[in-house]
Amino acid sequence: MERKRNRGLFITLEGPEGSGKSTQIPALAAWLVAQGLEVVRTREPGGTRIGEEIRTLLHDPANVELAPLTEILLYSASRAQHVAEVIRPALEAGQIVLCDRYFDSTYAYQGYGRGLDLPVLREITQFATGGLTPDLTCYLDIKPELGLRRRKQGGEEMNRLDRETLDFHRRVRAGYVELAAEEPERWVTVDAAQSIEQVRLELRAILERRLLTLHACDN
Ligand code: TMP
Repeated sequence: MERKRNRGLFITLEGPEGSGKSTQIPALAAWLVAQGLEVVRTREPGGTRIGEEIRTLLHDPANVELAPLTEILLYSASRAQHVAEVIRPALEAGQIVLCDRYFDSTYAYQGYGRGLDLPVLREITQFATGGLTPDLTCYLDIKPELGLRRRKQGGEEMNRLDRETLDFHRRVRAGYVELAAEEPERWVTVDAAQSIEQVRLELRAILERRLLTLHACDN
């Protein structure tokens, strides 16, 4: 994977279902904009017209026959389009990209969750992204029991993956914990069982520190 720092800043948020990413991202983006920064807020699967069509297909609970290999290729197809159309151009223009999920979701869900071979997933990902790696990954950690309960209570629509077994979601979480431990310089873990406000403040402090470090490096 590409270790050279991107010209802009590529930040991803990761976490199991109900970890609160979609609540936190708008607040984080608004805070970055208030600091005078240019921010592109986006998500996976999706983020482009074509990617959003792929998202609909992937999340439709009616698509029960979707084979694991087809699933990974569809997530990767959405990602290839996203990198080419949105993420790379924004980074080249010096902007901050704030992305709800990226390739670590593939490793956590399709790798640890479904049990697909991780080295193969890494090769497919390398092909789809050209090796574009986030500068910073904020991991919102939560027990699947609590996350899934929150999601149901929030009245959110349950997608095809939400309907997986509790064991599947436990493997996904354990996968995230392992991925975060493998690359401590890229990952920061936040306890998402805390209040929304507490998580918001922690995320803001993490970004503040990262922006200060970058500023120091650039000068
Ligand atoms: P969300 O946008 O509500 O988080 O839903 C995205 C779902 O797609 C979530 O269940 C995780 C799953 N997913 C994968 O399984 N693999 C991937 O590569 C990505 C990006 C998402």
